[in-house]
Amino acid sequence: MKCAENIVLIGFMGAGKSTVGRELAKRTGRFFLDADALIESAAGREVASIFKQEGEEAFRALEKESARWMAECVRGSVISTGGGMPTVVKRLKDIGIVVYLKLPFRKIVERIDAKERAGRPLFADMNRAEELFEKRERIYEEQAQITVDADGPVERILEDILKALGSLR
Ligand code: S3P
Repeated sequence: MKCAENIVLIGFMGAGKSTVGRELAKRTGRFFLDADALIESAAGREVASIFKQEGEEAFRALEKESARWMAECVRGSVISTGGGMPTVVKRLKDIGIVVYLKLPFRKIVERIDAKERAGRPLFADMNRAEELFEKRERIYEEQAQITVDADGPVERILEDILKALGSLR
């Protein structure tokens, strides 16, 4: 049996990559894989603790390593990436079809509450998070093969992705 190509979801923190990813996996008969969770299980620690104990660079190195592994070994999955992965992994399309969940910064802020911010080290400082967002938008656009408006109900976002995937074939 031939394995389906992976679908790689990219976008800023809080864009809905995990929520949409889980549903998209169900709808397309793929497994769901969260790249942050993969790194956490390999490192035996949470992302926030990797940032705190070893620093961001160490985390980015783990992201690159996980991306190499996914390109080599993972098939038939929907993969949600950490918001910074597209900045360090230059060719995400080596892993699968890259789908960008695009959302304005103010919408992202509305979605991420204080508790969630605590688990996301780069969201500790709101001004820094906005600067990061502005820098990354271009990178997301460049890596994306499909871009969808992620401001709205999950069902509509799924329909847009499925339609775009259909017209890629
Ligand atoms: C990061 C996003 C996080 C996580 C880490 C760094 C980033 O993932 O990988 O805290 O650089 O944007 P989510 O996008 O799933 O929150």
